[in-house]
Amino acid sequence: MTAELPVRLTFAESIAVLTIDNPPVNALGWAVRDGLMRGIQAAEADAAVHAVVIVGAGKAFIAGADIREFGQPPRAPWLPEVCNAIEACSKPVVAAIHGPALGGGLEIALSCHARIAAPNAKLGLPEVQLGLLPGAGGTQRTPRLIGAAAALDLMLSGRHASAQEALRLGLIDHVATTATTSADMTAEGIAWARHLLAEGRAPRRTGEQTEALADRAAQQAAIDAAQAQASKARGLFSPLQIVACVQDALDLPLADGLRTERERFTACLASPQRAGLIHAFFSERETAKVPEAKQGTPRPVQQVGVIGGGTMGAGIAVSLLDAGLRVTLIERDDTALQAGRGRIAKVYEGQVAKGKLSADGQAEKLGRLSLATDYAALADADLVIEAVFEDLAVKQAVFAQLQAHCKPGAVLATNTSYLDIDAIAASTTRPQDVIGLHFFSPANIMKLLEIVVPAQVSPDVVATAFELAKRLKKVPVRAGVCDGFIGNRILAIYRTAADHMLEDGASPYEIDRMVKAFGFPIGPYEMSDLAGGDIGWATRKRRAATRDPKARYVQIADRLCERGWFGQKTGRGWYVYEAGSRQGKEDAEVLAIVEAERQRAGITPRAFSTEELERRYIAAMVNEAAKVVAEGIALRPLDVDVTLLYGYGFPRHKGGPLHHADQLGLATVLADIQRLAEEDPLFWQPAPLLVKLVAEGRNFASLN
Ligand code: 3HC
Ligand code: NAI
Repeated sequence: MTAELPVRLTFAESIAVLTIDNPPVNALGWAVRDGLMRGIQAAEADAAVHAVVIVGAGKAFIAGADIREFGQPPRAPWLPEVCNAIEACSKPVVAAIHGPALGGGLEIALSCHARIAAPNAKLGLPEVQLGLLPGAGGTQRTPRLIGAAAALDLMLSGRHASAQEALRLGLIDHVATTATTSADMTAEGIAWARHLLAEGRAPRRTGEQTEALADRAAQQAAIDAAQAQASKARGLFSPLQIVACVQDALDLPLADGLRTERERFTACLASPQRAGLIHAFFSERETAKVPEAKQGTPRPVQQVGVIGGGTMGAGIAVSLLDAGLRVTLIERDDTALQAGRGRIAKVYEGQVAKGKLSADGQAEKLGRLSLATDYAALADADLVIEAVFEDLAVKQAVFAQLQAHCKPGAVLATNTSYLDIDAIAASTTRPQDVIGLHFFSPANIMKLLEIVVPAQVSPDVVATAFELAKRLKKVPVRAGVCDGFIGNRILAIYRTAADHMLEDGASPYEIDRMVKAFGFPIGPYEMSDLAGGDIGWATRKRRAATRDPKARYVQIADRLCERGWFGQKTGRGWYVYEAGSRQGKEDAEVLAIVEAERQRAGITPRAFSTEELERRYIAAMVNEAAKVVAEGIALRPLDVDVTLLYGYGFPRHKGGPLHHADQLGLATVLADIQRLAEEDPLFWQPAPLLVKLVAEGRNFASLN
């Protein structure tokens, strides 16, 4: 084999070394599988070879099957065949692992007769996150090696275990404490193979191990517990399949278990959930690929200012401190400043109480926070994020201060939810430095960061924002300037569609139940109670003057707010909350208010089926999303999908609204919208992009 091949066979005396070299992460595409198969066969056939080492080149052992190949016609050798061939090898085979050994990568390692790892190894079976199960023997070999409970935990969570944890679990045999690189692990693997040979050990085949499963009652109890847990996973297909595979590992001989695993893997592969989850996997990596990231050069960021220590400012500060940055918090006065610091400290106190953070860690983080009421404290800031009240005049006043005190080249960002960032930028003398960084609440937890790009901003500033997102471990999405950017603009429309259905006869509880049955963690009315109904009320009042008088306006929420029913914080909103409870109960008085409002509006209520509720809700979402794409507010359909997945709880296994629309068929969605337009032509104006795609027989994926 030559150096160009993705699997190289070299020799260290009697030890054959198979090095997988398929950048960036040594995924197991066909050429790698073929190379591994040939390599094992060559080692088996060569009498001069006494043992084999498998190692990854570059930064990984093997990150798993090549996800891009799923959905394409399979090409032999299949991964299970490669794994079986490795396990069957008559000479000891050692997996020498550094970096990720995930999915099929770990399955290769499990087929080897010994496993050693560098401290930086990450071992896991994350297939469940892609709607799959470990399909190359992982469901059969893992329980045989480490027992059902630990195997199920790894497979159902998809989490990565460290080398030390893997050692504790019995997943690996040894941690090579000073190794980090491929070269280190090649040397360690060779040494381990020599050690096995010196001891005269026969290959220890994982598939033949019986000890970990010996206590059958304990195994069955673990399987039953996992079954109960997996049944609760909202509508997900693969977790229950994984549990069934582990049951087979307990009950069946290896060959039969491998066969049923294959059948179940194929069923997962065919599931639309697999397509949705893999779309999500690639999309969340694609969103960082924006033109400005290529054109611009990120500016260095170490010192950050945060203006406003309220809900968002405090969360943003925590996120920045967690990433190792130094933060200066600015507030209106000392009282507000101390309140802001208190919010930040409270997050860390909670983490300390839960044992997630040490007292030293807390002190170190808070040690990087400084407080000021004078903007002069921002003289050294590389970046400032404004999170003051949602009021253009207030924000413009803040930006005037920033312009006066910040050094040239400092990035000036606003966390506004709706306001016109072009107008904020235009009020400064440095519009090239002004950008939107729209965090989601709670800002230290939510992964989404909308990076809102105003007309005059420099590509360097956009590139800086994307670089910052990476440091904060956020998923960045580029958005254009408009009312609500990508996410809140679409939310406003599907929430309005829900209100229309409410007034026409559906109950808020039916709508919430439908939305949760679809896969969202929470319904729109529960969400309003959680966030506080007063927030939306203030926005509605602000917009009243500019609202199209011909547009339908449902007043029900206003009636609740007028009573001071803002949701959880007032004990009452769309639901009633007993003192101290976040679990709301349905409220007959709310239904009476809804009914009175229908009468006032002259509406005779009618029943809605769950299907009708869902179709309208989704049609409203997709229609607005298509407008957002056509206007360039989102670069591609996948940017909308990632926004809704990470900021709004759209179920990941459905891939996002536009992936979901492709699955439904765009003609079907458009037909729904056109039918609804007969009732309310102003609200249901079909998006021209949707009409065009249907006419051309194309889907949203063709625009990604
Ligand atoms: N197949 C194909 N491409 C992959 C891949 C895979 N398994 N894993 C990563 N990539 C690609 C990414 O798409 C990305 O491509 P891009 O540069 O064009 O955007 C590139 O590799 C680098 O990936 P990341 O940006 O994610 O790099 P990180 O260093 O942040 O993370 C990682 C590396 C931890 C390996 C992460 O990529 C990861 O978690 N990958 C997926 C692992 C996985 O799910 N494996 C199971 C696959 S299913 C399976 O094995 C089935 C079997 O049981 C039969
Ligand atoms: P908040 O009311 O909790 O906090 C605002 C803070 O700004 C207060 O602590 C106030 O004292 C301070 N402040 C006001 N004027 C100031 C000034 N001139 N100088 C210094 N500090 C000043 O509001 P919240 O919810 O944190 O929102 C802040 C911004 O974030 C708004 O623009 C909002 O639209 C946006 N946002 C809010 C989200 C949410 O879920 N709450 C989500 C995403 C964005």
